[in-house]
Amino acid sequence: MVFKFLTFLLAVFLTNGILYKPVLAVCNECQDNHVACVNETSYYMCFGEGIPNTKQLFTCPDGMVCTYLPTICFQRSTLPASCGDTSSCGVCNANQVFACTSRTTFAFCFGATIPSDVVGNCPKGTICDASSPNFCVDELMPNSIVCDQIEPVSIMDLKRMNGLKNEIEFKK
Ligand SMILES: *[C@@H]1O[C@H](CO)[C@@H](O)[C@H](O)[C@H]1NC(C)=O
Repeated sequence: MVFKFLTFLLAVFLTNGILYKPVLAVCNECQDNHVACVNETSYYMCFGEGIPNTKQLFTCPDGMVCTYLPTICFQRSTLPASCGDTSSCGVCNANQVFACTSRTTFAFCFGATIPSDVVGNCPKGTICDASSPNFCVDELMPNSIVCDQIEPVSIMDLKRMNGLKNEIEFKK
């Protein structure tokens, strides 16, 4: 009986707390869990105040990222970090339609794995989300794929790096 109730509570927590709570990935801002993530893995305490206390820096254990959840650090594979994840920048999404090149810009992929140099800007107040068919979204979800940097990645550099890769493969 007690176990059933706990399972129910857990289910409610999982549904409301994790799956449906929109995540606004922001760096350096005190979140509901009283910490401010400074990058993917590090955070400062807020101690009930609106500004992070920068006297002591904390770092998540290996394999975990700083999140908005009450437990602060969470498995990297389960939830995106609150801020600082740039691993998807310039990477074409699963159906090779587009890649986010910064928090607010995208580039079309036209069916290729490397983005083209046809780039666009998200409407004001929206964030590029490589998991969304809408390109740019008002609110991030746990499965959102965000290129968390201000300056857009250079498509020229991406192409150069890929050209290099092809050349190396060609020489083999
Ligand atoms: C995160 O920021 C802290 C403080 O600036 C720094 O010491 C740490 O190396 C950074 N970690 C990453 C993964 O960039």
